[in-house]
Amino acid sequence: MKILVAYFSRTGYTEQLAKAISSELETRGHSIEYEIIKPAVCYSWFREVARDFPRYPFIAFGLLSSVYREHYLKSYHQVEEDIQALTYPDISEFDRICIGGPKWAQISYPVARYLQTIRGIRGKKIGAFATFGGPPLKIFEVELVFRPMTRLIERMGGSVVATVGVSSAYHDAGIMPLFKLFSYLRFQQPIKNFKLGTEYANKGIMDFCNNIEKR
Ligand SMILES: Cc1cc2nc3c(=O)[nH]c(=O)nc-3n(C[C@H](O)[C@H](O)[C@H](O)COP(=O)(O)O)c2cc1C
Repeated sequence: MKILVAYFSRTGYTEQLAKAISSELETRGHSIEYEIIKPAVCYSWFREVARDFPRYPFIAFGLLSSVYREHYLKSYHQVEEDIQALTYPDISEFDRICIGGPKWAQISYPVARYLQTIRGIRGKKIGAFATFGGPPLKIFEVELVFRPMTRLIERMGGSVVATVGVSSAYHDAGIMPLFKLFSYLRFQQPIKNFKLGTEYANKGIMDFCNNIEKR
């Protein structure tokens, strides 16, 4: 199959995941083209966080109430950011598309803009991948990035057939001690066990590629 791997990566971790997925798909005989999503202007992490910060208390409340979380995920405003011109603005020539980026509270802003910009997504099978600073907490990390991505993709007529989320164990804001604590509390494992190269990540990438290949 001809597969497009499109990704945004600010500090390089999602790029490593994109390369690991591509390398596995190439080993299986598929041909890969890349779309590297680049913001028009690169802002500091502080400014990026600040743009979405007023919504953080609502996310926190959603962790306490599943009813409110459902409401939030259906109605919140996704921040977007201008991106540079794309190599493949029309993706209709590809059999599958893998789209990834870091988790920025929800979808990272350049990826959100990318999803609204591309044409030819209707009827396509899409794989969504992400990295996040924390361990793979089911709601706070995994659900909060993949539910919004799925929602946007389905709104454009595509379907998400595979997802994989891996921890980078890195956060620009220096809150890793908190994430390390969560990792022990929730999984009784160090956060490094959820990074690329671990059994957890390798299985996630294999499952992702298996689902991408399904007809
Ligand atoms: C604006 C912003 C928001 C972020 N929000 C989260 C978050 O909600 N949860 C999390 O675990 N990490 C968060 N991070 C950390 C990144 O998701 C993490 O470092 C990611 O692996 C970086 O990927 P990259 O190197 O491809 O840019 C955030 C980082 C930034 C800059």
